[in-house]
Amino acid sequence: MREIRVPLPGRDVSYRLVIEPGLRHRLGPLLSAFKFPPQLVVISDRRVARLHGAAVLASLSAAGFAPALLTTPPGERAKTWAVVQRLAREFLQRGAHRRTAVIALGGGVVGDLSGFLASIFMRGLPVIQAPTTLLAMVDAGIGGKTAINLPEGKNLLGTFHQPKLVVIDPEFLGTLPRAERLNGLAEVLKAGFIRDRDLLERLHAARTGIFQDEAALTETIYRAAAIKAQVVAADEREGDLRRILNFGHTLGHGLEQASRFRLPHGRAVAWGMVAGLTLSARLAGLDPAEAEWGRGLIRDCGLCRPLPELNPAEVMAALRLDKKRQETGVPFVLVPRLGEAVIEDDVPLGLVREVLEKMLGQGAGG
Ligand SMILES: NC(=O)c1ccc[n+]([C@@H]2O[C@H](COP(=O)([O-])OP(=O)(O)OC[C@H]3O[C@@H](n4cnc5c(N)ncnc54)[C@H](O)[C@@H]3O)[C@@H](O)[C@H]2O)c1
Repeated sequence: MREIRVPLPGRDVSYRLVIEPGLRHRLGPLLSAFKFPPQLVVISDRRVARLHGAAVLASLSAAGFAPALLTTPPGERAKTWAVVQRLAREFLQRGAHRRTAVIALGGGVVGDLSGFLASIFMRGLPVIQAPTTLLAMVDAGIGGKTAINLPEGKNLLGTFHQPKLVVIDPEFLGTLPRAERLNGLAEVLKAGFIRDRDLLERLHAARTGIFQDEAALTETIYRAAAIKAQVVAADEREGDLRRILNFGHTLGHGLEQASRFRLPHGRAVAWGMVAGLTLSARLAGLDPAEAEWGRGLIRDCGLCRPLPELNPAEVMAALRLDKKRQETGVPFVLVPRLGEAVIEDDVPLGLVREVLEKMLGQGAGG
């Protein structure tokens, strides 16, 4: 079993992230070894519960736990106050108390929602993240950010609530649809671009074949998760270092918004990274050949299908609405070398627009 320890800055505690294929069948003994209390509530969405709920509950029960399974609708629509309230009342009906632990079994939606509820129910229950999407394994499940949405926007209500444990079983990805795999692959690429050139080389060797090779997939998840863990350990609460995790996301959010969220998150981030590499070559000294190699890698991973027709002015307007925007420029994460990131606080909006228009007009060239 591979393990990553995530220290919490300024506090004398840490939590562990453990990763091993098939771990869902050994969850019960694992939680016993970590001395979790007997009463557990597993929160999952209905799709994940149908596919994987039985295996998880069987392992927990066999180890002497008394798990209850509560489910939510799949997808972003579950991240609402109404669902939080309904789950909280079900907690009470099942006799949950302050020593009940919550297991978030699902993608980032279940992780955010369960983490949020766990952080406020009776002023805080321990939460175990058991991510089942690649995105949640390498990103959402690590770092303790929780959130639900309001009609006015995404993630507007949230807390920081660090998990007690993150349990990653790469075999969950066997049932994950291709589009969801690609969403996660974009975050793996991002981790490589900002911190780990060697991870990029590995992806280059494997491309999307990574999902057919269990050992390579496990190693990839481990490395990408370790990068997220390192960054959040050094900077738990959105300071400067944590901002490097936004590589590809500034423009990515603009593209997503201008497409009215028809463009999947992973593809939006991928195009944001394509632009980020181009801007890095123009402004941060990234070798143009390296920038092209990086863009080629994103394409080869299947993430650069042509963009829908988008109005550049609308994409730019979405950037301008960003709360971090400044007058003449916009903050951008750039990579002076592949595997290293810096924050450039004032990237001229005119240059961003030029790169964006070229990208929208040209396909994946950047
Ligand atoms: N807290 C953070 O730091 C953080 C970071 C990034 C994203 N997020 C949040 O994460 C959410 C997106 O997460 P996501 O991409 O994992 O989406 P998701 O949780 O909606 O999962 C995507 C879909 O895949 C299905 N699914 C999940 N695991 C499966 C499996 N093993 N087999 C088959 N189907 C499976 C789900 O039912 C769902 O329909 C967003 O709400 C975003 O705001 C949070």
